[in-house]
Amino acid sequence: MKGIILAGGKGTRLYPMTKVVSKQLLPIYDKPMIYYPFSVLLLASIKEILIISTPQDISSYEQLLGDGSRLGISIKYKVQEKPRGLADAFILGEEFIDNDSVCLILGDNVFYGQSFSPILEHAKQNDKGATIFGYPVGNPHEFGVVEFDQSNNVVSIEEKPANPRSNYAVPGLYFYDNQVVNIAKNVKPSARGEIEITSINNEYLKRKSLKVELLGRGMAWLDTGSPEGLIKAAEYVEAVQSRQGFYISCIEEIAWRRGFITTEQLRILGEEMKMTDYGKYILSLVKEAKE
Ligand code: G1P
Repeated sequence: MKGIILAGGKGTRLYPMTKVVSKQLLPIYDKPMIYYPFSVLLLASIKEILIISTPQDISSYEQLLGDGSRLGISIKYKVQEKPRGLADAFILGEEFIDNDSVCLILGDNVFYGQSFSPILEHAKQNDKGATIFGYPVGNPHEFGVVEFDQSNNVVSIEEKPANPRSNYAVPGLYFYDNQVVNIAKNVKPSARGEIEITSINNEYLKRKSLKVELLGRGMAWLDTGSPEGLIKAAEYVEAVQSRQGFYISCIEEIAWRRGFITTEQLRILGEEMKMTDYGKYILSLVKEAKE
């Protein structure tokens, strides 16, 4: 399975913060926002990743993450000339996806919770059709929303409906089989002129091959769409990290725990950042492993 992170957009809702800095590079507490979705792909043991961003910003992502070899994986980059919609990821990514299945995660989606790895593993195992998620929120009209019938079957997915038919939003994490490329090519632009991921999901629903897994209370899916959301997300990360001593979305740690890099490679990455708590955390993992 391949992984795609979409980190485009103009980030206008966060102006002036995002006037010259790409939204997905803004910090959430101690690391750039993109580390959080990136870590989700690593947790799912996806080792071939494509990052899509704007012509202005793509080089910043390359500087930040490189070709992935330091994390024992491969990272490729692709420019999206115009923000045409999320479904464009599969058109731009066609060659990269090749004959494989693919997981798309949006570069501003932050997830954290217990038992997330088995949830990802389960979604990855489903090699036919699509798996998306449902997460209860107080403001469903701002998202894709899942509608259920009385026996809890999915009836439709609506994009930002004025009158949501449930409070289950669809987070920006999607697993698809290889058909997604052709489906994306046939999506018609919506009223806002974008080729919507919701149209792809509805096509899978029509083909009776859409699974919607509900994420429970133990999962955090944090909002990064407003200054308030950003500070709350940062406070959440700080609270968990300082209380438990475990870091959220430390990509070096995950690469190491997944066996993509050796303890010695981890040590080198930690040394480079040893002046920060983040670097010290990595070095503490190295020390523990050697004891
Ligand atoms: C996009 C999707 C929406 C989804 C959301 C998750 O919305 O269109 O279906 O629920 O991401 O973050 P956006 O906020 O990018 O307009």
